[in-house]
Amino acid sequence: GTTLGTAAAEKGRYFGAAIAAGRLGDSTYVNILNREFNSVTPENEMKMDATEPNQGQFTFTNGDRIANHALSRGMKVRGHTLAWHAQQPGWMQRMEGSALRQALVNHISRVASYYKGKIYAWDVVNEAFADGGSGGRRDSNLQRTGNDWIEVAFRTARAADPGAKLCYNDYNTDGINAKSTGIYNMVRDFKSRGVPIDCVGFQSHLTNSAPSDYQANLQRFADLGVDVQITELDISGSNQANAYAAVTRACLAVARCTGITVWGIRDSDSWRTGQNPLLFDASGNKKAAYTSVLNALNGG
Ligand code: G3I
Repeated sequence: GTTLGTAAAEKGRYFGAAIAAGRLGDSTYVNILNREFNSVTPENEMKMDATEPNQGQFTFTNGDRIANHALSRGMKVRGHTLAWHAQQPGWMQRMEGSALRQALVNHISRVASYYKGKIYAWDVVNEAFADGGSGGRRDSNLQRTGNDWIEVAFRTARAADPGAKLCYNDYNTDGINAKSTGIYNMVRDFKSRGVPIDCVGFQSHLTNSAPSDYQANLQRFADLGVDVQITELDISGSNQANAYAAVTRACLAVARCTGITVWGIRDSDSWRTGQNPLLFDASGNKKAAYTSVLNALNGG
């Protein structure tokens, strides 16, 4: 393949980018998007604060702009994200207990129903595990409604859109460590009890290299019977091009690694200001990291 999307498709995978509705009027940006990618993730537009700014009042205008751009061009849409401790609307930040639980269920139900049939995979729950060595849950208002909130979220999403793959998504889980093992144990438990989960997202915000056990970590999750996806890839540092190739090869080596998403298009679009962690420079030119990924996708 001569583009990221076509080369990935030849390997039965997608290659996506996080995009912003506010940049869809930028022709350099849109030309790269349409040429190179066959999947998109809204960087902010489907989050809780964006879709339910006031309780019970849903706004899908910007999410729709992204979904329509993608679907009309045959691109997949990864929905991001139905439940997260961050980017909650103010009214939800101030809630707790059973009222919050009910609001969460309603939010998931309404957003997943609205986009029913349009979403390839939803990040149902984002970043619910703690950093560090505990392997346990992150404290949050959602967690304080009861440890079962994650499975309730997945069951609610399944009922609302039975055709979407339902993912758990997190960061600093790219190698085998206490945090990724905590998630591994949750996924194993969910599979054994029939809680609907189809995929695990590995954000992969990296510096210079992927952990040496990156592929082994993807594989141990795949062996539980879920797809794995690289969901927010960006890599800073002088070894960037090699690290991008290593991540790409790891995904290709794991049969259930269904695709890779980079977290932005040009360096100037990245949340990692000044770190230049993406595949295109600020002018939209292909970087060495781009060529490295394309070669890896093509088996080089
Ligand atoms: O919505 C306001 C807008 O009204 C205002 O004009 C503008 C002025 O700066 O700010 C806008 O909000 C910003 C929003 O991005 C949209 O641009 C927020 O301040 C800013 O905090 C927010 O950052 C996003 C961040 O998530 C928030 O947590 C980044 O764009 C986005 O890349 C980042 O993405 C996360 C993933 O969702 C989850 N994993 C980690 C990843 C990186 O942090």
